[in-house]
Amino acid sequence: MAEQMLDLRGIAKPDAYHQLDEHVRVLLEGIDDDIAAMATMSALIHHAFGHLWTGFYRVVAPDMLRVGPYQGTLGCLEIPIGRGVCGTAAAERRSVIVNDVREFPGHITCDARSRSEIVVPVPGRSGALIAVLDIDSDQVAAFDDEDQHGLEHLMRWFSTAG
Ligand code: SME
Repeated sequence: MAEQMLDLRGIAKPDAYHQLDEHVRVLLEGIDDDIAAMATMSALIHHAFGHLWTGFYRVVAPDMLRVGPYQGTLGCLEIPIGRGVCGTAAAERRSVIVNDVREFPGHITCDARSRSEIVVPVPGRSGALIAVLDIDSDQVAAFDDEDQHGLEHLMRWFSTAG
């Protein structure tokens, strides 16, 4: 399946996310399984852009996130909702971009190389929050509005597809 991987580095972000979205929908056609989708998306996004860490934290209790499918070094297992960048995005149900993790109070460090990150909420079919997508970079200010827009659009798979 290596030929199914994308390399989107060097492509303008709106075009890159458009290609990613189309590829994900083709690969996941007929699949009604959130974990399979999380695993497939993590692998594609991670390698397409060369991120440091790419993965999902799932809502497993009203106040708790637990790690789901991911690519990268070992992730924290659980994050209380309201804590860290992931927990803040989950609590407030909004995307959070952190340009420099050293300036985000309460940032949870899983990999000391992490410099910036974006976290995007993942609503499920019922509209309830089922997870957040967390992407870390070893570069400061790696993420912007175009990433937010592209990733929020991609995450609509979980509320509309399957
Ligand atoms: N940076 C996250 C923790 C998760 S790891 O980076 C994989 C946070 O503060 O929510």
